[in-house]
Amino acid sequence: MATGETGRGATGAWEALAAHFAEARGLDMREAFAADPGRAGRFRLDAAGLTLDYSKNLLTARTVELLCALARERELPARVRAQLGGAIVNGTEERAVLHTALRGSDAGQALAQASEVRAARARMAELVRRVRSGAWAGWSGEPVRDVVNIGIGGSHLGPAFATEALGQLRGDSPRCHFVSNVDPRDLEGVLAGLVPARTLFIVASKSFGTLETLENALSARGWLQAAGCPATALDRHFLAVSSNVARAVEFGIAADNVLPMWDWVGGRYSLWSAIGLPIAMAVGMEAFEELLAGAHAMDLHFRDAPPESNMPVLLALIGIWYRNFHGTASQAVIPYDQSLQRLPEFLQQLVMESNGKSVARDGTPLPRASSGVVWGAAGTNGQHSFHQMLHQGTELVAVDFILPLASHSHNTAQHAHLVANCIAQSQALMIGRTLGESRAELLARGTTEEGAARLAPHLVMPGNRPSNTIVMQRLTPRTLGALVALYEHRTAAEGYLWDLNSFDQFGVELGKRLGEAVHAALAGGTPAQAVDASTAGLIAMYRAAHGHTRG
Ligand code: F6P
Repeated sequence: MATGETGRGATGAWEALAAHFAEARGLDMREAFAADPGRAGRFRLDAAGLTLDYSKNLLTARTVELLCALARERELPARVRAQLGGAIVNGTEERAVLHTALRGSDAGQALAQASEVRAARARMAELVRRVRSGAWAGWSGEPVRDVVNIGIGGSHLGPAFATEALGQLRGDSPRCHFVSNVDPRDLEGVLAGLVPARTLFIVASKSFGTLETLENALSARGWLQAAGCPATALDRHFLAVSSNVARAVEFGIAADNVLPMWDWVGGRYSLWSAIGLPIAMAVGMEAFEELLAGAHAMDLHFRDAPPESNMPVLLALIGIWYRNFHGTASQAVIPYDQSLQRLPEFLQQLVMESNGKSVARDGTPLPRASSGVVWGAAGTNGQHSFHQMLHQGTELVAVDFILPLASHSHNTAQHAHLVANCIAQSQALMIGRTLGESRAELLARGTTEEGAARLAPHLVMPGNRPSNTIVMQRLTPRTLGALVALYEHRTAAEGYLWDLNSFDQFGVELGKRLGEAVHAALAGGTPAQAVDASTAGLIAMYRAAHGHTRG
């Protein structure tokens, strides 16, 4: 379904793409590959240790040309340079967006707070050294063995994902755990296996005002005290990362134990700051610096490469081609590496909190669809659940396969099955299976003519279904950094192309505020405002379940 590029928001490039879509929608990828032996080579690109094969997409050289014209018409290269150079690109919050500065961009060196950033990194390195070497002891004098990160959203997803992704480097360093949900079962589940005297908590909250994090931190403190930790020794068990040092101190964390954050680092882009402390605790500061270096290599590529050979920009343009012209509603990300299993969850915040918006930068309604749903799971698990829909469902889903060629497992023979499955899935999505092929297959299996005629339609796979494959030699801190930066920049580029602000998140506020009022009502407080009958009924059910009969 094309969205029809007429009326407000229609520009020369959007209109040219709409006209092209009318011709190009009939493209058959099988035929395109057969007709053009150079297709795979032409639609392949290397950057920062990653290779993108985007040849299995519903596009031609002309499509790419028109998409790149759109990027130029939207002045994407200049906007990218402005972002990386420290311009106020988050207009609603009047902030620069400079997570890239934390990994060494030019703006990073020119930044007013550059010395602050260096000092914070040095403090982080010292903490990491003390904890990893066993020099950091808890109240009993025993060294810390377990680190529990308490945070949510960007103060959780990035560190949790990257720590797991680099788990093969952990060695005998302290184990890192992650608690995010305000459901007390989350914290309880993690604490169940831990020794209080040997446990260190990191309270990670940019604002230090997030309900979930503060509740979990209070419960963690209670757990330590119940186990005998003297109030005077709590400092040995709590670190914090926050841009609101005063609030962290007010909570009871020693100022020396609070690492800073800055308002120019958005929550979902914060794993590069001290929010990445658990990553460094798990794999060491050197590996953390490598992660930054991989991301920095992708930053330079994003800033300098022209749209035609710019990996994040091409991915953004391809995303727009599907979302705004083919009418896709979702994007699947399927990593063929178990240690990347949390990538889809991380990307959900990155993409949907950034680009799930309905108004343009100037506050007027967007003329076309913005972010779709991002989802996925580690291959091959998905093949035994949702791939059925990818292959035969009525929805067109854009898929990104992520493929490290070598594993950290020594079992290379078994790993080859993983790689084969990844490659075969993109192939199957593209080639499909016709009615004739289905019938022939059934007959070859010994099915009768009648049975084959009856069953064949059920075996048909339409094919011509698109995917990108992002390949790396091996998952290392460097390639992981490049991969995360690739998706960050792709998301920003899509936001610029849609002309929305990717860097605020006002949509999360109302629910938080109402949650406080509902919480008071659960305890019997009278809501400040009249509530609707459904909400009142649900509150009454909770109160009845807890033995309150009236009011
Ligand atoms: O609720 C959304 C959000 O503001 C995210 O953008 C952020 O990553 C998360 O909450 C956590 O915020 P904080 O780090 O301030 O606790």
